[in-house]
Amino acid sequence: MKRLVTMGRGGSGKTTFVSLMTKYFIEKGETPILLIDADPDQNLSEMLGIDLKEVGKKTVSELLVETFLESGGTTVGVPPSKRIESKIWELGLYEGQNFDFMAIGTKFIEGCYCLPNNALKNALQGLIKAYQYVIIDSPGGLEHLNRRISSKIDDIFDIIDPSQKSFHHVERAYKIANEIKIEFNNFYVVGGNRVPEDLEAEVTKRTKLEYLGKISYDKEVENYVLYGKSLLDLPETSIAYNSVKEILQKAGY
Ligand SMILES: Nc1ncnc2c1ncn2[C@@H]1O[C@H](COP(=O)(O)OP(=O)(O)OP(=O)(O)O)[C@@H](O)[C@H]1O
Ligand SMILES: [Mg+2]
Repeated sequence: MKRLVTMGRGGSGKTTFVSLMTKYFIEKGETPILLIDADPDQNLSEMLGIDLKEVGKKTVSELLVETFLESGGTTVGVPPSKRIESKIWELGLYEGQNFDFMAIGTKFIEGCYCLPNNALKNALQGLIKAYQYVIIDSPGGLEHLNRRISSKIDDIFDIIDPSQKSFHHVERAYKIANEIKIEFNNFYVVGGNRVPEDLEAEVTKRTKLEYLGKISYDKEVENYVLYGKSLLDLPETSIAYNSVKEILQKAGY
C-alpha cells in the first residue's frame, strides 16, 4: 500500500490532480483506493461526483460533534480515538466500486483541528481494507502539515502555480516536512495548469527537487467542474488526464 499526498498553494490544482490520479489508478486496475479529503472546503467529493449527505455518510468533524458535543459528552480527558474510530469506519466511510472516500469536514471547533485530525489519524492506523493506495488531498497552504494526518508517506506531490510565492511554498513545505519528521520517500514538484511550459529547468534549479512536468490546461476539466460532473468520467482523450498520466509514469506509476 502506498500513501500519496498532494500539497500546494490555494487553487493550484491539487484536487484536480488527485481526481485524475484516481482515474489513472482505476484504469490500471490498481484498486481499491482510499481517498481522504483533508480540506474543510470539501471539493474532492464534488469532483468525484459523490454527495456524502445523499448516501447517508458523515464527515469526521460531524461525527465528533455528535459524539462529544450533542450527546452531552466532554472532550476533556477522553482519548477521542477510543470513542470515534469505529464510528469513522462505520458512519464516515463512503464505499464505492473502485475507491472508498472519507472527509475531515468543516471546522470542528473554532481555530482547532486537533480532534478531527487525531481521530482520523488513529482511524487510519487501523486500516481495515487492503488498499493499494491511500491518497490525501490537502487544503492550500502549509498549516495542515503540522496536523500530520499521516506521518509516513511514500510520495508528496507539490503542485505549483507560476509565482514567487509558490516557490517559497515548496521550499518551506519541504523544510517543515523534514523538521516535523514526516517520513517520505519522494518530494515531487508538479506544475499546475497555469505554469509555462519552459519552467522546468527553473523549477529544478530553484527547488533542487524533481520536477515531473505540468498538468495541461483543459477546457473540458473546467466544464466538468462548472457543471458538477465527476472528473472520473472524463474521456480517455482528455488533455489534462493524459498529462497527469505522464506525470505519474515519470514517478514510476
Ligand atoms: N488542468 C486544468 N485545466 C483547466 N482548469 C483547471 C485545471 N486544473 C484545475 N482547474 C480549475 O482550477 C480550479 C482549481 O483547481 P483545484 O480545485 O484542483 O485546485 P486546488 O489546489 O485543489 O484548490 P484549493 O486550494 O482551493 O483546494 C478548478 O475549479 C478548475 O476549474
Ligand atoms: Mg482542493
